[in-house]
Amino acid sequence: MQPAIYSGCEYMSERIDVSRRAAAIEYAIRDVVVPAVELEKQGHRIIRLNIGDPLAYEGLPTPEHMISAYKQALDSQDNGYGPSYGLPELRQAIAKSETDKGWHCSEDDVYVTHGVTEALQIIFAAFLEQGTKVLAPGPHYPPYMAYPQMYGATTVEYRLNPHDNWRIDFEDVASKMDDSVRLLVLINPNNPTGNVATPAEIDSLLQIAKEYPKCTIISDEIYDGLDFTGHMSSTASRSNSVPVITLNGVSKVYFAPGWRIGYMAWHDPENRLELVRDGVERLLRSRLCASTPAQHGYLAGLLDEHGWLEGHRSRVKDRLDYCIKRISKIDGLECEAPGGAFYLFVRIADQRVTSDKQWVLDLLHEHHVLVVHGSGFSPEYGLGHFRMVCLPPIEILAEAFDRIEQFLGD
Ligand SMILES: Cc1ncc(COP(=O)(O)O)c(C=O)c1O
Repeated sequence: MQPAIYSGCEYMSERIDVSRRAAAIEYAIRDVVVPAVELEKQGHRIIRLNIGDPLAYEGLPTPEHMISAYKQALDSQDNGYGPSYGLPELRQAIAKSETDKGWHCSEDDVYVTHGVTEALQIIFAAFLEQGTKVLAPGPHYPPYMAYPQMYGATTVEYRLNPHDNWRIDFEDVASKMDDSVRLLVLINPNNPTGNVATPAEIDSLLQIAKEYPKCTIISDEIYDGLDFTGHMSSTASRSNSVPVITLNGVSKVYFAPGWRIGYMAWHDPENRLELVRDGVERLLRSRLCASTPAQHGYLAGLLDEHGWLEGHRSRVKDRLDYCIKRISKIDGLECEAPGGAFYLFVRIADQRVTSDKQWVLDLLHEHHVLVVHGSGFSPEYGLGHFRMVCLPPIEILAEAFDRIEQFLGD
């Protein structure tokens, strides 16, 4: 390295340290894209089954009436800053949609954010301190592990049982609860496993949380409209004492993840969250607001009829069913049929495979199919698995499975 010359003095140019919190961030779903892009640059066609983005594939577009509302906001110069907690008419529509799910949600209980991901950052910033804990399902969507450490907290995983359709292991939850747990997370339907908790299971989780007065439940219901079991139930609707923050948005069920609009809806039956809510509101004001025209697009989605969703749902279900059928015929791969969302979390049954990440990289390099290693969703409970997105049209999925079969036969 050349020494830097400055004002007649010679300094060795030194690398500036990255903070430990940034260096510790991992997001497996996008981290695996780095080698895929390299292969694409070399001219290879990669079948990407890594990102849960319906827009990346044919046949699952954002509904036209939502796009028109977004465009109309742009055309009428509705491009200014909006209120920090969200447009009042959108907060009202979200409150109504949550109330329709069975609990009393008022406009003031709703805060609109840049996606559920921003809601998580704000919640963690307001709830967590050094030494506190988040108890999250293992496996889980990666930010539940990545973000809490930024606030000196740790994420502890509770076990989802791989031998029982990834249901919650309640004994494990109970054994890991203590007074330092500030947030108990339910992802329902779950990403990556697709398990949908039954109302009785939600009640059991609430029962455990009830013993710990400092504990709030985060219920991430971003896939709630993609429930194929018929028993999906809002967690807030079942709680009459434990505080529940429901997360949802436009990304999955309204098929517009690039708009970056989500929300948190606060259910606080015993008024325990007053102080932390003040903190959340301060944080929301300090980051100004969510995108104004995109909020208009989401509003149209909430207010208009939802008949279109049935077509999208049945397309997702057909694609999921196709994947389950193909996996069931492949020696060396096993998976449970998911109850919701659009992923399969597949077990690599070959005992010789010691690293799921290496397996994923080998599949990528040798047969150009991109999936995500299970350990990226849980270093403990995801090990030995991979997650695939089942959203592409069936002919693309067919080609992906042909390639996976060749890989396993090599
Ligand atoms: C469980 C879960 N929550 C949240 C998100 C991200 O939501 P948003 O796009 O609203 O930030 C995802 C994305 O895959 C997810 O799987």
